[in-house]
Amino acid sequence: MGAVIIGCGKSTPNLEIENDDLKALVDTNDEWIRTRTGIGSRHISVDETTEALAYAASAAALGMSASKHSDIASISYCAEPIDPESIDLVIFPTITPDSIVPSAAAALKKDMRLQNAIAFDINAACTGFIYGISVAESMMAASNLAAAQNGCKRSKIKRALIVCSERLSRLTDWNERGTCVLFGDGAGAAVLEWRDDEPGIIATYMRNDDDDTNALTCPNNFTAPQPFTKDGIDASASDVDEAADEVDAFFDLVDAIGSSSDRQVIRMDGQAVFKFAGKAMASCVEHVVEQAGLALDDIKLIVPHQANERIIRFAAKRLSMDIEAFQLSIEDTGNTSSSGVPMALTDALAQGKLERGDKVVLVAFGGGLTSGAVLLEI
Ligand code: UT7
Repeated sequence: MGAVIIGCGKSTPNLEIENDDLKALVDTNDEWIRTRTGIGSRHISVDETTEALAYAASAAALGMSASKHSDIASISYCAEPIDPESIDLVIFPTITPDSIVPSAAAALKKDMRLQNAIAFDINAACTGFIYGISVAESMMAASNLAAAQNGCKRSKIKRALIVCSERLSRLTDWNERGTCVLFGDGAGAAVLEWRDDEPGIIATYMRNDDDDTNALTCPNNFTAPQPFTKDGIDASASDVDEAADEVDAFFDLVDAIGSSSDRQVIRMDGQAVFKFAGKAMASCVEHVVEQAGLALDDIKLIVPHQANERIIRFAAKRLSMDIEAFQLSIEDTGNTSSSGVPMALTDALAQGKLERGDKVVLVAFGGGLTSGAVLLEI
């Protein structure tokens, strides 16, 4: 018995930006980007929200028509349509939610009429899908198995939707060539079902290494005007409108300066992250395979975070595995953070690379520094 993937979907915004298009913004070129990253183009949201992308990917995973966002391109892998009311849990890993309250998960649940679901977001950066699917599987196992063993009654979770959606373009410094050529926008989703007669997810492995050198960061600068000093309330600062104007003026200035490290954009020490990533991916694959009592030869496909094709090749070499055993979907998406793994998994399934009974490892790394892997049977 276990949590089985019964549907997958992905979506991308309509605007596609080729590598050479970025020459209008920074000193770069197609050859550099392709050889250093494997990226050829990426999709960028102009007016597609994080939630709209998530809606389109989730509708594809449920095998339903996304009439509400039919203008957003999507790919679906789903044997038969899944009733939205049968979803008990929505977990939404993202670092780019449209709002803080409601959560992205709650907004999506309402919009898609997932009437019976509980819903919450998590932030594990690019490892979000791995953490999300692991948490969902734990909740499903606890509610379906543990009640019988320890008597603790939990709400039954039979079906769960894990949906990642990112608008990294909102957090990208489009003047910084070291990062802006890497990122793209998109969403990926999967539906899990608890089944008594199939193994589904066999092993999960999650990890968090300290980012001692702040190799990958993005600040959250927003603070409402504060009428307080160390001595208490400052009545003169209670003119909230005036204070808000000051805050706006400050951020206009910071944006205009452009080079300030306080700006709300992703900052990255590329080489430090590269070193961590290659080792972390290989080590997570080894851990999860060992935990499952299997060998690397038993794995049909590894679906890695799509951050850089060179990182994936590095991990393959470290594991002494053929690169053919890795799903490569980065060429026309770029790095879409948490969405990368479910988007690539949808590609692999839609391309017919996997059959029932095949064993697959999903693996990712990201800011935090998070990393992890999930081993499952299709
Ligand atoms: O999911 C988030 C996790 N992030 C990642 O996984 C990213 C991990 N890191 C990487 O993928 C790579 O480090 C990068 C792709 C970001 C950079 O590749 P690199 O091979 O480490 O290049 P580099 O930073 O060492 O830069 C090499 C040269 C430099 O020029 P000089 O100093 O040798 O003259 C850079 O200024 O390439 C230059 N450069 C560029 N040139 C053209 C950096 N960015 C660009 C660019 N176009 N976009």
